[in-house]
Amino acid sequence: MTLQAVVLAAGLGTRMKSPRAKVLHPILGRPLVGWVLAALDEVGAEPIVVIHHQEEDVRAALPGRRFARQEVPRGTGDAARAALPLLADGPVLVCAGDTPLLTAGVLRAVLAAHRGRCTVATFEAADPTGYGRVLRDGGVRIVEEANATPEERRVREVNSGVYVFDAAYLRDALPRLLPHPPKDELYLTDLVTHDAQVVGGFSEEVFLGVNDRAQLADARGVLRRRVNRAWAVTGVDLADLDTITIDAGVQLSPGAEIGPGTVLTGACRIAGVVGANCVLHDTVVEAGAEVRAGSICEGAVVAGIVGPLARLRPGARIEAGAHVGNFVEVKNSVLRAGAKANHLAYLGDSDVGEGANVGAGTITCNYDGVRKHRTVIGAGAFIGSNAALVAPIRIGTGAIVGAGSTVGENVPDDAIAVARPPLKIKTESAERLRKHYRRLADEGR
Ligand code: UD1
Ligand code: CA
Repeated sequence: MTLQAVVLAAGLGTRMKSPRAKVLHPILGRPLVGWVLAALDEVGAEPIVVIHHQEEDVRAALPGRRFARQEVPRGTGDAARAALPLLADGPVLVCAGDTPLLTAGVLRAVLAAHRGRCTVATFEAADPTGYGRVLRDGGVRIVEEANATPEERRVREVNSGVYVFDAAYLRDALPRLLPHPPKDELYLTDLVTHDAQVVGGFSEEVFLGVNDRAQLADARGVLRRRVNRAWAVTGVDLADLDTITIDAGVQLSPGAEIGPGTVLTGACRIAGVVGANCVLHDTVVEAGAEVRAGSICEGAVVAGIVGPLARLRPGARIEAGAHVGNFVEVKNSVLRAGAKANHLAYLGDSDVGEGANVGAGTITCNYDGVRKHRTVIGAGAFIGSNAALVAPIRIGTGAIVGAGSTVGENVPDDAIAVARPPLKIKTESAERLRKHYRRLADEGR
């Protein structure tokens, strides 16, 4: 039988000061509650997620999950009660949806320690404020901060919010819970009674609850390091573990290298080298390819060399041996093997043939104000600096476009196209012109 689990995620999350449901705040491209669910998946549990606030958003963000709905959120005991109709006999792992640092290892340890009808995981908090205190006066019980005496508040052993219950016990005890002041809530913690098993000794960090955005940032920091460390162990060379950000959906191959400050989001797949301070989204960097410092790429495929300071937009494909240099923007275009656009260019909706060279300042004029048009540059063509290629247009194989030309019609293979106004040279004129300007300045004109 698969392991049953309940994730309490119906709370409003007032302290987040956000219109978004607390459990949907993203951490490394995955909603907060998604990290809890990932840990549960890892131990083979089948979680039921208890929802209420922004429930449609939560359902949409967690496709394929099972949900129970709390009619009116009246506390954690009431939340667990909402899941009762979906529970079969046997053990039930219960945890909160706002503790994204939970690990499969911790869940396994709690499950292994479970005996009888209730097991609770506890830890020693450096600052126990806000947590339920674990009291061991004869048996075990938990008192919430709001209901604790000053002496009880000094107890540093606290409730982690991770439990294993026997389903029959939940079915018996949850309907009989009584509300507590000050908010008339039903506490799940009331089910932790004298005969409960307590399993302690966990690090405080894994139970960090996210109640406000400072704790959200703390959780991000911990998960960032954890994810980075896990990739490093697989053979990826990460410049450091603190400044690199790798989303949960990113795939890295052994031998990939990632520079400091780089952010990889979405469905990036990296087998090559990505330098410092790059931002890549949904981008593939193949083995042997390189994206150099400061480049920004989205929806691109790189087999060649890109950057530093290049921008690739969706549909950019840079084949092996092709180069895209600084301040070059490429959108929906392929640069075939050996093609180069090394400085200051815009290539949109274009096909740049093998070995073609695109000079600095070249622009594909792909937009007529209504529609986008394609530019095709033949293999081995040479586009001089500052050319404007007015699409739709085809520059032939091996053709040459002179620097500064605005080209509005197709150029045949092997042809030269130059559009340049006649050059005027006036000898011995420069100093005369300067004198003229100085005179105007002196006269205050
Ligand atoms: C709870 C525990 C506390 C423990 C702490 C650990 C209780 C009464 N207290 O306190 O002992 O030390 O967690 O982090 O259980 N929720 C619902 N429906 C509700 C109320 C809450 O689904 O009606 C969900 C919340 O979305 C949240 C979880 O339950 O994910 C915990 O609720 P929260 O209000 O954060 O409880 P704590 O005050 O942290
Ligand atoms: Ca909490």
